[in-house]
Amino acid sequence: MLARSFTAFCIAVNALRANLFTMAWRSSGTTNEELISKLKANGIIKSDRVFQAMISVDRANFCKNKPYVDSPQGIGYAVTISAPHMHAHALELLSEHLQEGKRALDVGSGSGYLTACMAKLVGSTGKAVGIEHIDELVSLSKQNLNRSPETQEMLDNGQAVFVVGDGRQGYPQYGPYNAIHVGAAAPTIPQALENQLAEGGRLIIPVGPRDGRQYLYIIDKTNEGTTNRKRFLPVSFVPLTDKKKQYWR
Ligand SMILES: C[S@@+](CC[C@H](N)C(=O)[O-])C[C@H]1O[C@@H](n2cnc3c(N)ncnc32)[C@H](O)[C@@H]1O
Repeated sequence: MLARSFTAFCIAVNALRANLFTMAWRSSGTTNEELISKLKANGIIKSDRVFQAMISVDRANFCKNKPYVDSPQGIGYAVTISAPHMHAHALELLSEHLQEGKRALDVGSGSGYLTACMAKLVGSTGKAVGIEHIDELVSLSKQNLNRSPETQEMLDNGQAVFVVGDGRQGYPQYGPYNAIHVGAAAPTIPQALENQLAEGGRLIIPVGPRDGRQYLYIIDKTNEGTTNRKRFLPVSFVPLTDKKKQYWR
């Protein structure tokens, strides 16, 4: 029975991998609506909640170059805004943990785009915290949210918060978190992030060396406080590192 469900799980993961790698890059559009609709048509966005959240946050406010192309784009400071399909995938993996009133942490918040989508999902009674170690990017992410009244309101009412800090330490002040997303690849899973995960919560994190083989891990904390780790998908992210090392290899 156990073997059969494990086989079913592996088949599902492989199908998802195939889907991601064949469909992921075909979702580019010329408007936000077209991009998000294609992500849905290509099966990357599955739920209406994630669709609505991504429709309501215009990527052009967070990315100057080719905002509606489904690939990562440079945003300065040796970093990128992740590709739209990666954002969609992350939101889908976390969506059950991003219900109204929940708390979310976005480590390596960069442009602020994903934090804004997470804030949208947790609603006005929840909180999404973006932590980023480059202070200029924290200022930029606030400017980006201020570009539209809807995201500006989330900043004004504390639904979306941005802080400067080393994301490997998490941000215990607003924890524990129901959902934690890490947007850069860590050599190992930081213990502080597991500790700040609420019971029943989920952490997703790319793990692996800079320029080497990296995988997205899903870590679920049970209601008893134990954790289950799953290696999920091969990915490619900039490293979760020291500020100095980010600029100089
Ligand atoms: C691929 S970018 C993702 C940005 C964001 N998710 C987006 O799409 O705009 C990774 C981010 O992680 C940040 N980062 C790397 N190491 C970090 C650390 N130790 N603490 C906080 N942020 C870090 C980088 O500065 C960069 O902004």
